[in-house]
Amino acid sequence: MALPKTPSPFPPPSFSLLLFLLFLALQSPPSFSVDTISANSSISGDQLLTSKGGNFVLGFFTPQNSTKYYIGIWYKKVSQPTSVWIANRETPVSDHTKSELRLSDDGNLVLLNESRAQIWSTNTSISTNSTVAVIQDTGNLVLADGSNTSRILWQSIDHPSNTWLPGGKLGLNKVTKQNQRLISWKSSADPAPGIFSLELDPDGTSQYYIQWNESVTYWSSGTWNGQIFSGVPEMTANYIYDFTYVNTTNESYFTYSVKTDSIISRFIMDLSGQIKQLTWMEGSQEWILFWSQPRAQCEVHSLCGPFGSCNENGQTFCKCVKGFAARNQTEWDLQDRTGGCVRNTPLQCGGNSSANVEKDRFYPMEGMRLPENAQNQPDVGSAEDCASTCLKNCSCTAYSFGGGCSVWYGDLINLQEQYNGSDAGTLYLRLAASELPDSTSKKGTVAGAIAGAVGGLAVCVVIVWVVIWRRRKRRMIHAAKAVGRTLVPFRYSDLQHFTKNFSEKLGGGGFGSVFKGFLPDSTAIAVKRLEGLRLHGEKQFRTEVSTIGTVQHVNLVRLLGFCSEGARRLLVYEFMPKGSLDAQLFQNNSMVLDWNTRYQIALGIARGLAYLHEKCRDCIIHCDVKPENILLDASFVPKVSDFGLAKLVGRDFSRVLTTMRGTRGYLAPEWITGVAITAKADVYSYGMMLFEIISGRRNSEQTEEGKATFFPTFAANRLVQGDVQSLVDHRLGDDVNIEELERACKIAYWCIQDDESARPTMGQVVQILEGFLEINMPPIPRSLQILVESSENINFFSDLSSNQSSRTRSTTSTGSQVKSTASRSSNV
Ligand SMILES: *[C@@H]1O[C@H](CO)[C@@H](O)[C@H](O)[C@H]1NC(C)=O
Ligand SMILES: *[C@@H]1O[C@H](CO)[C@@H](O)[C@H](O)[C@H]1NC(C)=O
Ligand SMILES: *[C@@H]1O[C@H](CO)[C@@H](O)[C@H](O)[C@H]1NC(C)=O
Ligand SMILES: *[C@@H]1O[C@H](CO)[C@@H](O)[C@H](O)[C@H]1NC(C)=O
Ligand SMILES: *[C@@H]1O[C@H](CO)[C@@H](O)[C@H](O)[C@H]1NC(C)=O
Ligand SMILES: *[C@@H]1O[C@H](CO)[C@@H](O)[C@H](O)[C@H]1NC(C)=O
Ligand SMILES: *[C@@H]1O[C@H](CO)[C@@H](O)[C@H](O)[C@H]1NC(C)=O
Ligand SMILES: *[C@@H]1O[C@H](CO)[C@@H](O)[C@H](O)[C@H]1NC(C)=O
Ligand SMILES: *[C@@H]1O[C@H](CO)[C@@H](O)[C@H](O)[C@H]1NC(C)=O
Ligand SMILES: *[C@@H]1O[C@H](CO)[C@@H](O)[C@H](O)[C@H]1NC(C)=O
Ligand SMILES: *[C@@H]1O[C@H](CO)[C@@H](O)[C@H](O)[C@H]1NC(C)=O
Ligand SMILES: *[C@@H]1O[C@H](CO)[C@@H](O)[C@H](O)[C@H]1NC(C)=O
Repeated sequence: MALPKTPSPFPPPSFSLLLFLLFLALQSPPSFSVDTISANSSISGDQLLTSKGGNFVLGFFTPQNSTKYYIGIWYKKVSQPTSVWIANRETPVSDHTKSELRLSDDGNLVLLNESRAQIWSTNTSISTNSTVAVIQDTGNLVLADGSNTSRILWQSIDHPSNTWLPGGKLGLNKVTKQNQRLISWKSSADPAPGIFSLELDPDGTSQYYIQWNESVTYWSSGTWNGQIFSGVPEMTANYIYDFTYVNTTNESYFTYSVKTDSIISRFIMDLSGQIKQLTWMEGSQEWILFWSQPRAQCEVHSLCGPFGSCNENGQTFCKCVKGFAARNQTEWDLQDRTGGCVRNTPLQCGGNSSANVEKDRFYPMEGMRLPENAQNQPDVGSAEDCASTCLKNCSCTAYSFGGGCSVWYGDLINLQEQYNGSDAGTLYLRLAASELPDSTSKKGTVAGAIAGAVGGLAVCVVIVWVVIWRRRKRRMIHAAKAVGRTLVPFRYSDLQHFTKNFSEKLGGGGFGSVFKGFLPDSTAIAVKRLEGLRLHGEKQFRTEVSTIGTVQHVNLVRLLGFCSEGARRLLVYEFMPKGSLDAQLFQNNSMVLDWNTRYQIALGIARGLAYLHEKCRDCIIHCDVKPENILLDASFVPKVSDFGLAKLVGRDFSRVLTTMRGTRGYLAPEWITGVAITAKADVYSYGMMLFEIISGRRNSEQTEEGKATFFPTFAANRLVQGDVQSLVDHRLGDDVNIEELERACKIAYWCIQDDESARPTMGQVVQILEGFLEINMPPIPRSLQILVESSENINFFSDLSSNQSSRTRSTTSTGSQVKSTASRSSNV
């Protein structure tokens, strides 16, 4: 109760009086909250309407970094101001005390500005004498007939701004050809319609498009198959939202509901050009992003505007290319990048033959995704000619010569740096000569001689320095090893040297690439270059790293040191000679792991995870358990790697989803339900991985026709029939302990239960694998059955043994076959 907290000028009331007041408060809740505007009432200044259940509020508000007022609806129970609908997006008022939201004489709800001019209206034709406007508990503002409030004349969910609320429609009116679009804000301070929008395909298919400027489509959901959008395979069974598609002669739309009422969740077209689903976390008082598309920020069309360049790994995604600055810094800072960047110095234009005028030059940008609208120049055969072709035309802004010559005219959009797609190239950006330091020397020979001399000197210096430094390093490492637990802080230049300038790549994961290297004492190391770090300062990084450093277990990869210089963050681990588990399990050319080794690997991983979850000081949830993150030492002892990193790169859950791109894989269903993640999410992933250790194949395999099979679904049936032998990797032959196999299969199913509480802890898994705990027959998770329905599961192993016959079978597989598989597993 707030009663004791409020400072009171009166002497403290007696206890009984207090009880009496309390009683009164409970008896008749103060009914200040009004949810209706009627003919004799209105909203002005700080007055608010509150919905009956207390979920939503309507009134004037100002967005952050703005001084203007808007009529909006926002969550009452969410501590961060979060608007879900705005009436006057384009016509704000400056003084809300003199503005008024009221019913006009014709019955429409209107907004009047300071000078009593109507600046917004529900603008619908009304045939009744009296109307009322009611804010409903779903966040919907309804204009209804005053004599019968279930006759709705207009409602705000039919006119969404950037938010699609549960219960709202988002679709197409086939009669008026009007499309209800979600349109992003213009900037973080301005809710006016921005450049990005989401709409249902105007041609009548069931897919959504995200568009730039209502003209360029850069993402589509794929069509609806009754359960998921084909481009969004992660929408599996336990998805937090239930989508419904309605298609009549007059309209087609989707609507959705949130399965659990208590969850506050919303779907928005964000300023970042991505659609996002966010869930409010009461515990941490913040919105958690649990799903977004396009996943990679730089896939958003023209995210950074003309001459802006996107970088997935940068501190900020957008910056202007060399020689350019934001057209309007205020807008740029408020995330409105449509204006893009402009030249600091105008081009001189090569055609000017005045003697003393310097010509334009080209600035090379390596590792770029080349911009759109390249003009190929088939007749140009050399890089030099390509450059001069570009110089000849004043509107040419860049060229690239990778085999053939391409030039660009006008604005460059969709530039991306540090791009590692197959189409990456070097872009030569045209700039005024004064923008570039004088790099081309007039006298090549002299320059060459100087360069040679400087180079020679540099080599000497380097040799001397390396000797000194090796001594120092050796001392340092010996010291570190003696102390045992301390982490070595490495210098970036040292790591560059150890890894021969990051030349031997061992792999790449969600957090960055890993390179092999050797310490001066010849110890092999694996150096992980963290990518995509944001928000974290040096100090926090060191704290997190030292936490990870204290986590030591025989089944966890040991962190030896780290590097933190400027924006660079690297971690140095012990090197694991047998590589990762996926290579050992799935690659044909490698030795087949025998059954006993597999069982010991499964047990070792379970011990490592149990230690992370239960034994170390702060419980660490791994969040990304999969064969790629299990490393094997020389004697095949498994070591879990990459733990603790999710915390290092921030609490952005979507980053983990990114690593799971398109595969059903190892993600526990709660990842996409948006609820808080517990250690049981790791248990789920462990279970999925256990199936793969048993079968020696990926759970999800695509056949050549692109049909998906899913091993756990197939295996369910066999387990129940008592035919576990057929599930094990056929390459093992008779080398298998049936008792252990059966135990492993059962644990795997217990681990992948939809309901977290039904899953064992990792500690229990260890005990079961060790044979100290008995285990019952598991129920088959419902989500597996749904996967069958949506993926046309076909016999898993017949695929393997006879590709030819399975191909004919799967092409003739029909709905009835799908159903029979499904009902079989539901009988289980
Ligand atoms: C507004 O008018 C309605 C009916 O005309 C009446 O019931 C209500 O009490 C009035 N409200 C106020 C605040 O005057
Ligand atoms: C927006 O406002 C916040 C505080 O309200 C401030 O920290 C931030 O710098 C402002 N941003 C801009 C671009 O003005
Ligand atoms: C009110 O709106 C009218 C019409 O849009 C406009 O002409 C007028 O300047 C506005 N008044 C104020 C004080 O902004
Ligand atoms: C109101 O609706 C009519 C058509 O129904 C349209 O012509 C008019 O432009 C609309 N006015 C406003 C202010 O939206
Ligand atoms: C509207 O009001 C007029 C008179 O004010 C009355 O004659 C008419 O019956 C009313 N119509 C309805 C639908 O209530
Ligand atoms: C109120 O309107 C609804 C929907 O138009 C209608 O079904 C219902 O019969 C009306 N009720 C009365 C009392 O007129
Ligand atoms: C929607 O219904 C129309 C007929 O009303 C039909 O032509 C169209 O194919 C349907 N669209 C989808 C995606 O089912
Ligand atoms: C968006 O398209 C309109 C024409 O449809 C055009 O006038 C406008 O310049 C475009 N916006 C940008 C930022 O290119
Ligand atoms: C479509 O609209 C027409 C005219 O507005 C109406 O008569 C018809 O009942 C509507 N059909 C459906 C399925 O809502
Ligand atoms: C930058 O944009 C803001 C907001 O659109 C505008 O108010 C301001 O005048 C612009 N500044 C310049 C220098 O164009
Ligand atoms: C050429 O250079 C002269 C002298 O700098 C300048 O006045 C003239 O505008 C330039 N012409 C072009 C086409 O850039
Ligand atoms: C430069 O290239 C543009 C685009 O191809 C073309 O329209 C223009 O005529 C060219 N100008 C000259 C001087 O060649």
